[in-house]
Amino acid sequence: MSANKIHIFDTTLRDGEQVPGCKLNTNEKVELALKLEELGVDIIEAGFPISSPGDFSSVNEISKIITNASVCGLTRAVQKDIEVAGEALKYARRPRIHTGIGTSDLHIKAKFNSNREDILQRAIQAVKWAKNFVDDVEFYAEDAGRTDNEYLARVVEAVIRAGATVVNIPDTTGYCLPHQYGEKIAFLVNNVPNIDKAIISCHCHNDLGLATANSIAGIIGGARQIECTVNGLGERAGNTSLEEVVMIIKQHSELGFHTGVNAKLLNPISQLVAETMRMPVQCNKAIVGTNAFSHSSGIHQDGFLKDALTYEIIDPVEVGAEASKIVLTARSGRSALAHRLHKLGYNFDRNDIDILYQEFLLIADRKKEVLEDDLNHIAGAYNNKEMAV
Ligand code: KIV
Ligand code: ZN
Repeated sequence: MSANKIHIFDTTLRDGEQVPGCKLNTNEKVELALKLEELGVDIIEAGFPISSPGDFSSVNEISKIITNASVCGLTRAVQKDIEVAGEALKYARRPRIHTGIGTSDLHIKAKFNSNREDILQRAIQAVKWAKNFVDDVEFYAEDAGRTDNEYLARVVEAVIRAGATVVNIPDTTGYCLPHQYGEKIAFLVNNVPNIDKAIISCHCHNDLGLATANSIAGIIGGARQIECTVNGLGERAGNTSLEEVVMIIKQHSELGFHTGVNAKLLNPISQLVAETMRMPVQCNKAIVGTNAFSHSSGIHQDGFLKDALTYEIIDPVEVGAEASKIVLTARSGRSALAHRLHKLGYNFDRNDIDILYQEFLLIADRKKEVLEDDLNHIAGAYNNKEMAV
């Protein structure tokens, strides 16, 4: 396996599904899991088996049909959770149990009314329980973003010794700045003696809009797995967006990383997830928003029509999106108007366009967007006048 492969751990069906209104039934989860596998993700976190009979059944059914990706079930550091996850995953070709506990002083005190030593022992115990069911055990140190680095390093070393194959360092509250998160990962790389025996994973939340930036800082710091969701769905402000990290890694080849994701399927899966989860994508969302490849201001449109690279760093074809659009608004210029009229079959010269543009602006000031019907109307009226003269 290449040292610079970034494993894509998709948690759309677990963290993404925690979003109010996004709940999925087993059939919907199975359909999405098959699409995620086709997309090329490495790990599918299928659910939290102890949380409900429905989620148990989803993890169980997904385990039966997924052939290439690992199938993962979430647990707390609780014996019963882990036993139930082991049972739910029993048909998986590549099962993974994802277990863990809060490690920040705030979580230790407020959630567990405990102390660092006790939490360390519970973490080790959870990994050992999970090892009774599967070889591949991922440990999460919840709220690692706000966990003291020295203590975090002790926990990570201990769980790897207990058999963890992946150590997840979640910025659960989306608190870290990119350089802080990157330094945290680098600290673990440099201070955990057995770190070479596990993969470090980034699991970042978007409370300050930094989830993607933090995940990228994490892999630069030495992590080799990113936990993410389609459309960035997830608790509160969401998780790292899968499509964003995949395209950053692809666009910035100088970083030397790669993923197994087929980028051409990014827009189709985004639409499928939005429909199935009943959660529309914001129009200005990177890569998959309806405006991601639309140009509406005159300056941009003029440059784009001369050379698309002036205002587009990604060819929409590369990410399975519809072709770039020239949208006509009151901020559009003559070249965009001429382009759109030409597409409708009208061939006007510069003088014609100058006159038509004044008419266009009158409509554009009244409407949010000038549409095809409006253009046909303007062009038709102009041609009639010309003929009459
Ligand atoms: O955000 C978080 O810390 C989590 C863990 C359960 C991995 O989702
Ligand atoms: Zn999370």
